[in-house]
Amino acid sequence: MKGIILHGGHGTRLRPLTHTGPKQLLPIANKPMSEYCLESIIETGIKDIAIIIGGVGSDKVKEYYGNGGKFGVNITYVEQDEPKGIAHAIRLCKEFINNEKFLVFLGDNIIQKSIVEFTERFKNSNFDSTILLCEVNNPSRFGIAEVKNNKILKIIEKPKNPPSNLAVTGIYLLTPKIFNIIDDLKPSWRNELEITDALDNLLKQNDNISYEIITDYWKDTGTPEDIIHANGEIIKKMDNSFEKKYDKNKNDGKLVIGENCEIDSDVVINGPVIIGNNCKIECGTVIGPNASIGDDTEISKCQIKNSIVMKKCKIHSNVKIIDSIIANNSEIFQKEKSDDGKIFLLGEGSKISF
Ligand code: TTP
Repeated sequence: MKGIILHGGHGTRLRPLTHTGPKQLLPIANKPMSEYCLESIIETGIKDIAIIIGGVGSDKVKEYYGNGGKFGVNITYVEQDEPKGIAHAIRLCKEFINNEKFLVFLGDNIIQKSIVEFTERFKNSNFDSTILLCEVNNPSRFGIAEVKNNKILKIIEKPKNPPSNLAVTGIYLLTPKIFNIIDDLKPSWRNELEITDALDNLLKQNDNISYEIITDYWKDTGTPEDIIHANGEIIKKMDNSFEKKYDKNKNDGKLVIGENCEIDSDVVINGPVIIGNNCKIECGTVIGPNASIGDDTEISKCQIKNSIVMKKCKIHSNVKIIDSIIANNSEIFQKEKSDDGKIFLLGEGSKISF
């Protein structure tokens, strides 16, 4: 089998963070979100993987993943000139797939369960596709599968009256049959070739699609809130990892601290929290619960909760930062103390002083 990771798209819901790079490189627990997808695929034993790139910062994707050597796999890059839909992106891989079964992973989908068993079952089956479903509370936001007696009857994109709460996740096991189906697709109202339409047409053709249900954590991280939520869940599942000298800082919860950090004794850390390498944290800063601090970041005086601060940031401020994502090289300085929580969504290199 082969693998495909979708790394293109508009990323409009994550602006301004996506003005300088693709959303799939935004960090969750200090690691690009698409690296979790790559790890899931690698676990299945798949060695040949295509990454679909397109739009701002595609070169950063190539720079990070290279030819796949450092991950023990072969990576091929396939350029999508414009984000014309998930099905469009998959169609671009026809030559790469070359008649094998394949696994598609949307690069912004985070799951905690291994997909090894699902993949093995599909590999040994005669199904045209196996899709992974997950129960959601807000089915109108997703592609939804109508299921009866263990069979999929229909797949509908963002239904007004959802027939179930089983969302079609961004992990698809497919055969090359999907390519002809995509060739006959018409663009949707948002001018994209929709994977849900392709799957529904495939279903109509042969009635031969199976499904698996993910009962563990799954998140389609399209918005800042989704990313921050996934961040906390991923850190919670990591092993504690920090030097003994930080025992006095740790108040509660999961804690991961990298190398070469300087953390003052009056800094309080409420896990789940991850702190990267070479960070300097001082002057009574309170971090967490649910916070990631990227490498080479300096922080003093503030409180940071439910937030992601990326690499090389400087935050020297009395401010209470909540529900925020602060991209690489950003700086926040503040003179007066403020007790209100402040929400920041700062693109790379932002500077705020107040
Ligand atoms: P979406 O999150 O549905 O779309 P988007 O990335 O364009 O974001 P937004 O709605 O905020 O503007 O995309 C799902 C995944 O598929 C995501 O990982 C991006 C990827 N994708 C492509 O690679 N090519 C495409 O043409 C599209 C539409 C998405």
